[in-house]
Amino acid sequence: MSYKCACYAYLNLYLEKYGYHFRYFNHSKFLEDYQQMLLERKYSSDEINEISQKLKVLQDSKKQEDSKAYDRLQKIKSQYTPLNSSIFTFNEGFLEDSFKKLVESCKRGDRDLIDSMKYPNDEVDVFTFRVFNKQFISHFMKEIDHISQYKGIVLGRPNSMNHNGVLMKELGLDGMLTVLRQEYLQPIVDVVFGDVIGECESHRGFTVKYSYDGTVHDGTGDKQLGKHYDNAEVTLNVCMQADDCIGSNLVFMGMANSEEPDRERIHLSHEVGTAILHLGQLRHYVTPIERGVRTNLVLWLRSSSVRNKVCPMCWDTPEIVETKCVDDGFRP
Ligand SMILES: [Fe+2]
Ligand SMILES: [Zn+2]
Repeated sequence: MSYKCACYAYLNLYLEKYGYHFRYFNHSKFLEDYQQMLLERKYSSDEINEISQKLKVLQDSKKQEDSKAYDRLQKIKSQYTPLNSSIFTFNEGFLEDSFKKLVESCKRGDRDLIDSMKYPNDEVDVFTFRVFNKQFISHFMKEIDHISQYKGIVLGRPNSMNHNGVLMKELGLDGMLTVLRQEYLQPIVDVVFGDVIGECESHRGFTVKYSYDGTVHDGTGDKQLGKHYDNAEVTLNVCMQADDCIGSNLVFMGMANSEEPDRERIHLSHEVGTAILHLGQLRHYVTPIERGVRTNLVLWLRSSSVRNKVCPMCWDTPEIVETKCVDDGFRP
């Protein structure tokens, strides 16, 4: 079973051109909410109407997203033949020994090792550690390339901001990642975020790809990413490819619900095989890629005990609606 908060079609509608998340109910409410702000930013009345029209189109497509995702998934399942079936069943051999040791220490409730992996900044909790070994990463990236170029298959977008990437559910890797989440990531989450996050009983997994030459996704490619927080309680972000890559660093700011003025706190570059773990509501952005290609595997871990109380997208008690395919981790 899968569930969303009904706010998905009304809030956090992202228009890239403006680098801004809007809420949209109807045209007159839009003018009430944004006209003044947009006029102050020197947008003309025509441009403001155009933004409103774009948001209406985006809202309509959001409403159809779930049934489209369901149809797409059925089609991919019936058509896709994996390149290497060995990566679809979880195996400890995918993991770095240091990661297994880290998980063991967390299972014992010993936090010294994970604390040594915390970025030295007292204001934010960001941890970095290696997860997958080279062999798994190589098989994984070949599989990503394989499905991305597969004839007759159209893939869904990884999330509402990134264009380039593969949903792990569509690839068929969600079962494998479920084992990773339950057996390996949960013990770490319990130690570092256990006071605020309960069991993460679902996830959304996807890759994101940043490319300088823009040869991916209808020639535009993802080159950077605006400020945002994730639709996740905890995010694991593992670098799987960084070919000749310069730029596209991850910059962390403050928490989404903080009242303090926001500012940049941490700049991190990516290293293949290394994961960055942080609370989903820690705001962040990606600097422009200046050369090469980077692909990361992102796992948005969801805990219904947290999000059932307050939806991280509308900051209100969620109105939980059942969906056919897309799961945002709420549970009735
Ligand atoms: Fe993010
Ligand atoms: Zn909501």
